[in-house]
Amino acid sequence: MLRKLALSAMAAVLVGAPALASEGGHVEDVAFSFEGPFGTYDKAQLRRGLQVYTEVCAACHGLKYVPFRTLGDPGGPELPADLVKAYAATYEVYDPELEDTRPARPSDHFPAVTSAGAPDLSLMAKARAGFHGPMGLGINQIVKGMGGAEYIYSILTGYTGEEKEEAGTTFYENKAFPSGWIAMPPPLSDELVEYADGHKNDVHHMAQDVAAFLMWTAEPKMMARKKAGFVGVLMLVLLTSFLYLTNKALWAPIKRGAKAGSA
Ligand code: HEC
Repeated sequence: MLRKLALSAMAAVLVGAPALASEGGHVEDVAFSFEGPFGTYDKAQLRRGLQVYTEVCAACHGLKYVPFRTLGDPGGPELPADLVKAYAATYEVYDPELEDTRPARPSDHFPAVTSAGAPDLSLMAKARAGFHGPMGLGINQIVKGMGGAEYIYSILTGYTGEEKEEAGTTFYENKAFPSGWIAMPPPLSDELVEYADGHKNDVHHMAQDVAAFLMWTAEPKMMARKKAGFVGVLMLVLLTSFLYLTNKALWAPIKRGAKAGSA
């Protein structure tokens, strides 16, 4: 009975494994500035990513968990306060007190956008962070530092150009999207966004910039967290060496005595 169970469990794993492996599309590795234990966000890149989001993605996707004021926070795009204010004011938000819409203030959040049936992007980079690599085990995240930002980059650059229509919806073939067909029309094309800093604006560069920006919206405190982790490890190393020395000093007379006794 047990053997039979074990055998069928094994069979299930063997049959299931290829299915798991084929789930999840092809995700490209990108060397982002924020990877690794000392990685930091690249302020200029976050600003370009914000521009791509604003000019392209915001038409369909909201960022409802992101307050405008965080655009000025250290470690983020670090927009000056007057720019944050001016940027927020380009959005209309609904104010329940006025029972009407008004220009947004820095204390407001980016509006939610639901009209296009597109998911909110605030936390997308974390929602899609794992499960890539062989059998969806997330190995690539640990080994190569690949995560949600790479996934977003791969979606934006993964269109093959094929489309099909199903039940009145057009689907676009995409190598990175798990099912292979996504309902989002390719949002980027070369030179779609004009960068003020003269950075390259082909699809690949814009995709990297907006992916980095969306990593920041999902994890704005990443740098502070890494720093705290580093300080923690440093303290543990110091503590370990002090304990080692204390231990040695405490036992020294006894060990000396034991040596003298045995001689
Ligand atoms: C014309 C509207 C439209 C625009 C513009 C648009 N998207 Fe989308 N997006 C969609 C829709 C619709 C979906 C849902 C697709 C699906 O589930 O098949 C989607 C899904 C996504 C997903 C989720 C994929 C997943 O795993 O569920 C990501 C990431 C994404 N879009 C990023 C972006 C980025 C970044 C931009 C700007 C460069 C952008 N989108 C611009 C409509 C749009």
